[in-house]
Amino acid sequence: MIHIDYFFSFIFFSFLGWILEVFYRSISNKRFINPGLFKGPYLILYGTGALVLIICIPLVSTANLFVKILVYFVATTGLELVAGLIGECLSPVRLWDYSNRRFQFRGHICLEFSLYWIILAFVFEYLFLSLYQTFLAWLPFSGKVVFSWCVFFIMLSDFIFISTKRVFYLKGKVKKDYLSLKSEFDALAAPLLENPSVKELAKYKHHREKTRLAHVIEVAWLSFIWGKYLSSDYVNQTSFNGAGKIHGQKLDCRAIVRGAILHDLFFYDWLREGPKLHGFRHCKISLKNAQKIVQLMPKEIDIIKKHMWPLTIIPPRYKESLLVCLVDSYCMLKDYLQIKAKGGVNK
Ligand SMILES: [Fe+2]
Ligand SMILES: [Fe+2]
Repeated sequence: MIHIDYFFSFIFFSFLGWILEVFYRSISNKRFINPGLFKGPYLILYGTGALVLIICIPLVSTANLFVKILVYFVATTGLELVAGLIGECLSPVRLWDYSNRRFQFRGHICLEFSLYWIILAFVFEYLFLSLYQTFLAWLPFSGKVVFSWCVFFIMLSDFIFISTKRVFYLKGKVKKDYLSLKSEFDALAAPLLENPSVKELAKYKHHREKTRLAHVIEVAWLSFIWGKYLSSDYVNQTSFNGAGKIHGQKLDCRAIVRGAILHDLFFYDWLREGPKLHGFRHCKISLKNAQKIVQLMPKEIDIIKKHMWPLTIIPPRYKESLLVCLVDSYCMLKDYLQIKAKGGVNK
């Protein structure tokens, strides 16, 4: 397969998945249901799933049945779990919920559907893939390019439109309610920021010129703002396309602020000293240090322990943990991109 085939496959299966879900959901609900969180005709999860299988299948083509089952299980159920966890954190709408099924995990995955996905992966491999590859070979190059870019352009516009609308709402809200948000944040953060161990973080550079204290405060503030936003009526009342179930989430902003302030509570210059494999180990070190200075709630523990996910392998248990993990990655990326834009900083 050439590059355009992968791109086309992602778009094509996103589109095909949307058609399947429209039929399934509209017939079950006896009214038209647009199944995605966005407006356009595509479901990115199907596109990603098909792409993962297209990549995995040749890799395990000579493997035995057991290995294939294992790989298909990890690929499909893993993808479903990651999509479910991220969706749970970023959107108040649950597009699928297995809570009432047996052997399920937080409603995102369940044994029954994992078995269906494995069967589907085999159907895809033995019945569909060769047919699809013939279709790909038959399709003219220009046809693939035009179709892929047209749908991709709709996806991008859709995403930019909805995101911009929400970011503008959030920015407006922060501007309007800045004083009350800031005083609520300060009240939650102050007891920790006055602690000598936390104050000591000002001595360490974290992302080049930025101190570790400035970093944890930034992560705490941004996570707090997002926590407030995701708990707001604005988000919870936006039912998107009428698909899925709105869970009316309320995030624990106290745990978010406290966990975020303590998430990098370690006392060494991680570039020059400290333990080997710092990236993997500093979560536990920070947690140990945090437990020495304050009593932590389960959500706060999870925030600190999982803030480097997926490096920590076990996914965050709470929405709050995933939120801090995403904001932490964003802050790190922003700091390094800013440094790069300035032409680098000499250490
Ligand atoms: Fe960290
Ligand atoms: Fe961090």
